[in-house]
Amino acid sequence: MDLLLKNRKVLVTGGSKGIGLACASVLAAEGADLIVSSRSAVNLDKAASNIGKHGGQLLTFSADISREDDIDALAEFVTSRFGYVDGLVINAGGPPLGPALGHSDEVWMETVSTLLLSVVRLTRIFVPVMSERKFGRIINISSTGVKQPIPGLVLSNSIRQAAGAYLKTLSSEVASHNVFINTILPGATETERLASLHETIAGKTGKSIEEVITERKSAIPAGGFGDPVNIGSLAAFLLSGRNGYVTGQSIAVDGGLVNFPL
Ligand SMILES: NC(=O)c1ccc[n+]([C@@H]2O[C@H](COP(=O)([O-])OP(=O)(O)OC[C@H]3O[C@@H](n4cnc5c(N)ncnc54)[C@H](OP(=O)(O)O)[C@@H]3O)[C@@H](O)[C@H]2O)c1
Repeated sequence: MDLLLKNRKVLVTGGSKGIGLACASVLAAEGADLIVSSRSAVNLDKAASNIGKHGGQLLTFSADISREDDIDALAEFVTSRFGYVDGLVINAGGPPLGPALGHSDEVWMETVSTLLLSVVRLTRIFVPVMSERKFGRIINISSTGVKQPIPGLVLSNSIRQAAGAYLKTLSSEVASHNVFINTILPGATETERLASLHETIAGKTGKSIEEVITERKSAIPAGGFGDPVNIGSLAAFLLSGRNGYVTGQSIAVDGGLVNFPL
């Protein structure tokens, strides 16, 4: 099926590695014009060469989406180069692990900035133009932790709930303008973030990394971790004009995972 993404203009934040990069790569293969953003220019250069040549434009811009001034600079760049965007993928790195009582106010506020305020700020900038143009598709990359809190990930479990509630509210306000907003909930997906989670769990439990990986894989009905491209493919459909009626949803891509052993 042609997703009709050719020359659609899409901004992907947190797009230099892992799930964000997979979203950008699938969109590039579909011929979308892309602005890919993340904090590090070095990571962005690697991502651009990883995506390689394709039919559409590929531009990069360094921005930390936990910072309002960076989001404003990113929005200016988008406006100067594309004028508007048809699609927006909101993604950033996950917060630190730790028990519910284990984080300072400062760390909580950093997480609010990265996972919640970023979503509010980016949508506040881009949704009005999408509504005016009568086309917009937005994806937020979240976590299955919003369905069932993941032990040791209280920051992610809590703040992502708030972002999900915000987006659900917004989605119902703008659906009549053909602006559709959905959240993707990745399960365990093979990226640098997952590898570092396994190292942390191994360090805390005294198990080897191999043991941790074997145990966690055995808890997944599909029999293993997800490929980031699985998420990129769903994101491409949800961002496309082929998505004519899916909005306000939180869709898990988790291989049928019920919950990990502690
Ligand atoms: N992988 C999994 O199993 C899994 C499961 C559930 C949820 N998730 C969540 O899904 C998201 C993506 O996961 P991932 O595994 O792909 O992570 P990852 O491998 O750590 O990649 C994160 C990407 O986001 C960028 N980034 C980090 N902080 C940023 C910020 N403040 N502003 C802009 N860009 C930022 C990074 O590039 P720079 O360093 O250049 O900024 C990188 O491109 C995370 O929020 C993660 O918690 C992942």
